[in-house]
Amino acid sequence: MENELQSLEAEARKGLQELTDAAHLEPFRVRFLGRKGAFSTIMRQLGSVPAEERPRVGQLANTIKADIERLFEEKKEMLSAGQGRRGVTTPDLSLPGRWPATGRLHPISQVMEETCQIFEGMGFSVAEGPDVELDYYNFEALNIPAHHPARDMHDTFYVSDSLLLRTHTSPMQARIMEARQPPLRVIAPGKVYRCDSDITHTPMFHQVEGFLVDKKVSFADLKGVLTVFTRKMFGKELALRFRPSFFPFTEPSAEVDIACVICGGQGCRVCKKTGWLEILGSGMIDPEVFRMVGYDPQQYSGFAFGLGVERIAMLKYGIDDIRLFYENDQRFLSQF
Ligand code: FA5
Repeated sequence: MENELQSLEAEARKGLQELTDAAHLEPFRVRFLGRKGAFSTIMRQLGSVPAEERPRVGQLANTIKADIERLFEEKKEMLSAGQGRRGVTTPDLSLPGRWPATGRLHPISQVMEETCQIFEGMGFSVAEGPDVELDYYNFEALNIPAHHPARDMHDTFYVSDSLLLRTHTSPMQARIMEARQPPLRVIAPGKVYRCDSDITHTPMFHQVEGFLVDKKVSFADLKGVLTVFTRKMFGKELALRFRPSFFPFTEPSAEVDIACVICGGQGCRVCKKTGWLEILGSGMIDPEVFRMVGYDPQQYSGFAFGLGVERIAMLKYGIDDIRLFYENDQRFLSQF
């Protein structure tokens, strides 16, 4: 009987601990402390305990029952005090705490940071320039004079005749080269703006410009640097495709595509059924650009590239619509 009393005590204590609603007080009382409750039932068996043991077991039973009655009364008081305040129940201090929601870096910022870190690891330094740019640096200094048809490639937001929202990060090539002498290894991350919008284009997006100027720099150096970058960024050997292209500030020029990770190269709406997604434009810096910043093109050569950060993020995370990055949907953003 002693064992039964002890397990009944444990059961009643646990029941009291879990009792957080005043509506459950009465069922508890009936179950444990009522006339037909567990304690009364067990005490009725006292007669079957040997006579010499009976006083000790009886006293134990009374003590346990009195303890439970006292705890029950305390609980009752606590719950009814809580209810007294217009239905507000007493907080259960044993409940686990709630974490306040914490902010995190936007996935594009994360990919920008990672991109910069990879190029810094290859000896590039980071430079930043203005979003509102002079027409001169955005176009003229890059061998795109007024009325040149290449301006059509960038649907531009003008602030005034000579000021605009930069359409790419390439103006940083001219700004840095004007101010410094080779050898140079620089990356320039930042926002750029174009009148452009579909599942792979947004009107504001991010680029990371990179350029290296020195003696005897070749296209092979450009390919090497970009191959190292993609391997580090995607952590595996993804196929890269250098496709001949044209930019007035590089010659020769190439656009670089990466095998579409969304469809595994099979063709989908993101890669427009080609199996490839363009991530950057690149090439060997045009001698005309060197002349404009006062470098001798006979002495120096260099490569440059401008990569689209959103495209990298889409491939890295398997996102099939670039606009998701800018809808500010917490359910999407909190996954990164
Ligand atoms: C340029 O902007 C050149 N300045 C790149 C360059 C730099 C070439 C240095 C040579 C030397 P392009 O317009 O192709 O190139 O854009 C570069 C990358 O930006 C594209 O490959 C693409 O990944 C991304 N991109 C272009 N337009 C958008 C857009 N509207 N939304 C998101 N990403 C875009």
